Amino acid sequence: MTEELQSFFDYISASPTAPHAAAETVARLGAAGYEALREDTPWQLVMGGKYYVVRGAAVIAFRLPSELPCGAMMVAAHGDSPSFALTPSGSAVSGKYTRLTVEKYGGMLSATWLDRPLSVAGVIAVRGANGAVETKPVKLDRDMAVIPSVAIHMNRNANENASYNPAVDMQPLWGGKDAASLLAVIADEAGVAAEDILSHRLWLYNRQAPTLLGAEGEFIGSARLDDLACAFTALEAFLKATETAAMPLYALFDNEEVGSATRGGAGSDFLDNVLRRICEVLGMNEEERQCFEARSFLVSADNAHAVHPNHPEYADPQHAPEMNGGVVVKYNANCRYVTDAEGGAVFAEICRRAGVPTQVYCNRPDIPGGSTLGCIAVSHMGVRAADIGLAQLAMHSCFETMGSRDIAFMIRALTAFYGTALGVDDRGNVCLI
Ligand code: CO
Repeated sequence: MTEELQSFFDYISASPTAPHAAAETVARLGAAGYEALREDTPWQLVMGGKYYVVRGAAVIAFRLPSELPCGAMMVAAHGDSPSFALTPSGSAVSGKYTRLTVEKYGGMLSATWLDRPLSVAGVIAVRGANGAVETKPVKLDRDMAVIPSVAIHMNRNANENASYNPAVDMQPLWGGKDAASLLAVIADEAGVAAEDILSHRLWLYNRQAPTLLGAEGEFIGSARLDDLACAFTALEAFLKATETAAMPLYALFDNEEVGSATRGGAGSDFLDNVLRRICEVLGMNEEERQCFEARSFLVSADNAHAVHPNHPEYADPQHAPEMNGGVVVKYNANCRYVTDAEGGAVFAEICRRAGVPTQVYCNRPDIPGGSTLGCIAVSHMGVRAADIGLAQLAMHSCFETMGSRDIAFMIRALTAFYGTALGVDDRGNVCLI
């Protein structure tokens, strides 16, 4: 296995939930010499400086070139994945057993969560000294829960018409009726008193580690490939790209799976505020800031659907990406993807120059398909943009499949993207520099 793939597997394993993905991203930025800035404290920026800002489970990192940047080259991905969120009580006795009490987070394939080792991770907020509310990531790092199927003998139609009611079918078995409560186990794990846990956001996670699959290891099987594959490859590319006249920026957003309209989601003012603040601190006036924004570009990086081996009919025959076929550029007539003619051309041209193959995705015309954070982020900024991703199967399963060779393709494509600056000619055409 290549060093890149090992690093990807480590990133996934360290990121069972969105707050963990943010913490792992921050750890890697810190190891690369990036300095933390806080939204609640004034910033001092120096040319050539490397910085990151955290808001909840969202992270934005940027690097200043040695001179005032002409614009920003930005890649955004999301750190959250569909899962089952623990309710505030966390667990409850039910008949002969204790069950975890969960509700759905995002739109998952429910059946994939049955009959496999699960555990719990997320954040707790605990009472600290002097009125402080301290948040800490917590992860139970052992097999602890299971959502058992009903036996075929009791549900003879299970293979014909399966349906899963989250309130009934998807509540995990946790222990016997005298079992310790989830919050007692979490408090123990975190080394805090149970009564000091003021609140929590916890989710189930799949315990299966990432693995290579296929005759020659050509596929990756893992939880959370959507969207940790793009979160990881964009971070790698961001860290290794060479300096240009533009400012490279990396954004990891939260809550894409539930619509992005949250404090750390792409619908928030987080990215916009960071960009405005950078311009302000660097001494640009409002007009200079608007020129800066108009010479910026956002890549929304989120996985795409590969053509399915058993169900090719779900793909549009002319736009059916395959795994290991390179980076996918996504188009949608109704702008559910942000790519327009100019944005798609800029990104495809960068890939062509970097020698990275690209594929095109659009939905079969009678299948509505999904959306991404791209349009949401761009709807309140004047930047050019494209929606891209890597082809995968079983999106929103708790064990997804993608191409192992695509990881290197995406790192190369995004490194080339970050190594490009945008100029504008005297007729207003965007130019790659
Ligand atoms: Co996604």
